[in-house]
Amino acid sequence: MEKACNSHRQPFLLLHLLPLFLSPLPALANPAASPSQIISRFQQYLQINTTQPSPDYQTSTQFILSQASSLSLESRVIEFVKNKPVVLLKWPGSDPSLPSVLLNSHTDVVSFEHSKWIHPPLGGYVDRRGDIFGRGSQDMKCVGMQYLEAIRRLKASGFRPKRSLYLSFVPDEEICGNDGAKKLAYSDVFKDMNVEIVLDEGPHSTLS
Ligand SMILES: *[C@@H]1O[C@H](CO)[C@@H](O)[C@H](O)[C@H]1NC(C)=O
Repeated sequence: MEKACNSHRQPFLLLHLLPLFLSPLPALANPAASPSQIISRFQQYLQINTTQPSPDYQTSTQFILSQASSLSLESRVIEFVKNKPVVLLKWPGSDPSLPSVLLNSHTDVVSFEHSKWIHPPLGGYVDRRGDIFGRGSQDMKCVGMQYLEAIRRLKASGFRPKRSLYLSFVPDEEICGNDGAKKLAYSDVFKDMNVEIVLDEGPHSTLS
């Protein structure tokens, strides 16, 4: 989030559950889990121009759906407002009576001035130190991809969640989210999801 928005906060309960995803897991033979594959998927996402004010949501939606399909997640695209797709993924839990967990991220990014970048802002360039350059690399395409990669790893380890896990990839957060997260939060779709806990954007890290 870049600008201060004059809208009410979404009725999301924000909790940090990162330890849930950071528990050690056995090393994997699965090549899809190799660091270079993980970085390459992140680069692809960074290369999609979802810059406001005309984000390419069509391409980002296709990308997220292809990730969902590679993970055998259920998926649907909801346009509460035309051309403002909310991509909703689901990993069904073994006990559907339990409230669910929602991992939210936004797909759009704020605009940029080329002259202020040492590498192209839509390039997904990785330098010799391993730093990855791209508009939205922190805010917040990295988070959306970390959710997906955590699921990839958990699935490969044989883990099955008790609670259903949802992922929402929402549009227009950088212009206040009225046509994205807000519509989702007040929808019947959201009610039916029976969400108890949401993880969302947190503070930035510093590049040092
Ligand atoms: C990315 O999209 C923005 C509109 O939101 C546009 O101004 C810009 O030219 C696009 N950049 C590229 C490289 O396509």
